[in-house]
Amino acid sequence: MQEQLWIQEASDKIKRKMRLVTERSQGKIPYKTVNGVFDDWSGEKICWWTNGFWGGIMWQLYHATGDSIYMETAKELEKKQDANLMINGGMDHDSGFRWLPTAVADYRLTGREESKNRGMRAACDLAGRFNPVGRFIRAWNDKGDGSRAGWAIIDCMMNLPLLYWAYEETRDPRFLQIATMHADTAEKYFIRPDGSVNHIVEFNAVTGEFIQSFGGQGYGVGSSWTRGQAWALYGFMLSYLHTGNEKYLNASKRVAHYFIANIPESGLIPVDFRQPAEPAWEDSTAAAIAACGLLEIARKVSENEAHVYHDAALRLLKALYEKRCNWDDNCDNILEKCTAAYHDKEHEFTIIYGDYYFIEAIWKLTDQEIFIW
Ligand code: GLY
Repeated sequence: MQEQLWIQEASDKIKRKMRLVTERSQGKIPYKTVNGVFDDWSGEKICWWTNGFWGGIMWQLYHATGDSIYMETAKELEKKQDANLMINGGMDHDSGFRWLPTAVADYRLTGREESKNRGMRAACDLAGRFNPVGRFIRAWNDKGDGSRAGWAIIDCMMNLPLLYWAYEETRDPRFLQIATMHADTAEKYFIRPDGSVNHIVEFNAVTGEFIQSFGGQGYGVGSSWTRGQAWALYGFMLSYLHTGNEKYLNASKRVAHYFIANIPESGLIPVDFRQPAEPAWEDSTAAAIAACGLLEIARKVSENEAHVYHDAALRLLKALYEKRCNWDDNCDNILEKCTAAYHDKEHEFTIIYGDYYFIEAIWKLTDQEIFIW
């Protein structure tokens, strides 16, 4: 009963604060806060990979409250993102992050044809990044020299649901084939025997052969970037939810067991599970994302097993709620101490997808969620 109390409290606080924040953030696409105020990634920054998350927050709040301010704000953002669809160099594998919480969420809730059209355009672009010899989706772009043509990253597991959605809408098996071939490749080359995962894997883009892995946004080669572990944990679970293939459930569970075994006593998550003890940089986004994935696993496994995943999710979320949430009405963000990458100059700031996944997790626990992925 005590457990339920803080979850309900968190839900109430999110609704109260976000109503005020939404009102004063009209016209913005936030990424982080500067002195407690959301910045704006519209205009020249329209192609940034995180630009869908504010829309996702809006749809989650609309679904939970029915307040039209959230729907109107989400629709305005969705329309602005059309500019991104028209900039070829600004399209990459993160189409799922950009259009699932925006156009596809809109379509799922309202059935609007123009939203479906946006989602389908984005899905076709994502499918076009597939390398059929290596059976992976290319992650990032390069300067046109092909230097990153063989790069795949674990984060892409979270973009596959855009292809599953396109398959579910059209029944064209190509979308399903591409998504599952990529997931199979990721299962083989990204997950290590101990359940930890690589961030970046480079394949020979011509022959498809494995070349090497990189530390990417984590500490280094062979390390364990926590947000990458969380993308894998949740991403493989989503592939299971869309396909029913137990191989993906097992992959998600393997990563989950590794993640759970490495949660520090404090319940707060470092940027990399294998980073040096000092500086003890944290990444709250990894905790929130992993919690979402753990809650989804808990829903699908037997009661005997479910408590392991559910309890771990609650531990992560309670630590965030008690120690890393900012409920000051004058400050736009919720989660504190988020980190984009270990070797960046900036650490422990506020990042919009931290707030998004924290809200999604609390909504899962209170049955208020619109399923975005
Ligand atoms: N997908 C990029 C990141 O997690 O930072």
